[in-house]
Amino acid sequence: MQKVITRRKKTIRDIEVQGKRVLVRADLNVPLNEDGSIADDTRIRASLPTIRYLCERGARVILCSHLDRPQGVVVERLRLALVANRLSLLLDRPVLALQDCIGPEVESAVAGMNAGDIVLLENLRFHPEERADDPAFAESLASLADLYVNDAFAASHRSHASIVGVPEHLQAVAGLLLAKEIDTFTRILENPDRPFAAVIGGAKVSDKLGVLENIIRRVDLLIIGGGMAATFLASLGYGVGASSVETDRLDDVRRISAKTSELGVRLLLPRDVVVAGRLDSGVSARVVPVTAIPDDMIIADIGPATASEFCQELTGCRTVVWNGPMGVFEVPEFAEGTRRVAATLANLTGTTVIGGGSTVDAVIRFKLADAMTHVSTGGGAALTMLAGKSLPGVEVLDDVEEEGP
Ligand code: 3PG
Repeated sequence: MQKVITRRKKTIRDIEVQGKRVLVRADLNVPLNEDGSIADDTRIRASLPTIRYLCERGARVILCSHLDRPQGVVVERLRLALVANRLSLLLDRPVLALQDCIGPEVESAVAGMNAGDIVLLENLRFHPEERADDPAFAESLASLADLYVNDAFAASHRSHASIVGVPEHLQAVAGLLLAKEIDTFTRILENPDRPFAAVIGGAKVSDKLGVLENIIRRVDLLIIGGGMAATFLASLGYGVGASSVETDRLDDVRRISAKTSELGVRLLLPRDVVVAGRLDSGVSARVVPVTAIPDDMIIADIGPATASEFCQELTGCRTVVWNGPMGVFEVPEFAEGTRRVAATLANLTGTTVIGGGSTVDAVIRFKLADAMTHVSTGGGAALTMLAGKSLPGVEVLDDVEEEGP
């Protein structure tokens, strides 16, 4: 079987950090409310172990991150000062927010730092050079520090200056969050306790093709839900009403289905669905078998018989990875399928990995995140790992020297 990660990367546990200036690339890209306040601080909390580890060992911690997509210009509402305040509250120590991420003022602030101090550089994406992986920009960032730590798992699929450029200039190792994410995905993909199931949902099959192609070679059971189930059902000749079908992906879906039988993987699709005229709260919805979806109705969730079957099958599994909700869980009327799968995983004796993005939003909403083995902080990065590809931001980190024979 193809290896997911071929070499073990150094982490902060493998090196001496005492007294060093350490540039930590974190992913503090948190969702914001309309009024600009932080809507969910999961990513900030996830970055705390690395920051604490470094501070406790007398490092001078220079944090950097992007926030949203400001397109290379300063956007006032996307300044990181708010994040610095939250960090400071959670760490119970000062976190100084700087007004830029490079330049003389940043250099003098860093020069004045003592062991255990923390500064947070301004949003990296205020500079177009960040996304362009500009060498001079990467060099300026690197010049602030003695060593570099990547703890931004969720941004490690991006070949940006702070992810792949800076490590060209400094000793570069993984932070504790990055290491945990990589170890978890690598372990379940390469050496899972069996039976191993993948639950794949979400709106579009085209977003998940790479994941499906990879995961069918590794799992015993593949469960398909969400909007993308419509394309699977259509590929079998079912009428799916007004649900959106990716007609250009029907052949891919047929190929994946055929491959599952060839590999002896059980493939479960919805047998009944919740349908509605629109995907809004308050509209009338009903449950129908997949053989009788009305022409003017859209699939909004898996039905109760399907949810029971999925949950019963999952109960017997020792490892489950889940990416993509079963329905439009943001609308209460269409949340039940996603909620039942989440509740089943929360009670599972085994490893449960929530593979990022909106699935994470769902388990947080159902207050079940703490009951999972691992809730990934990555969206695109988690998909990249599940597709069996390596992350550019991990590739560039220093390898652990292998012992000779
Ligand atoms: C994410 O939210 O997935 C990461 O922070 C990466 O953000 P990006 O998709 O804007 O690069």
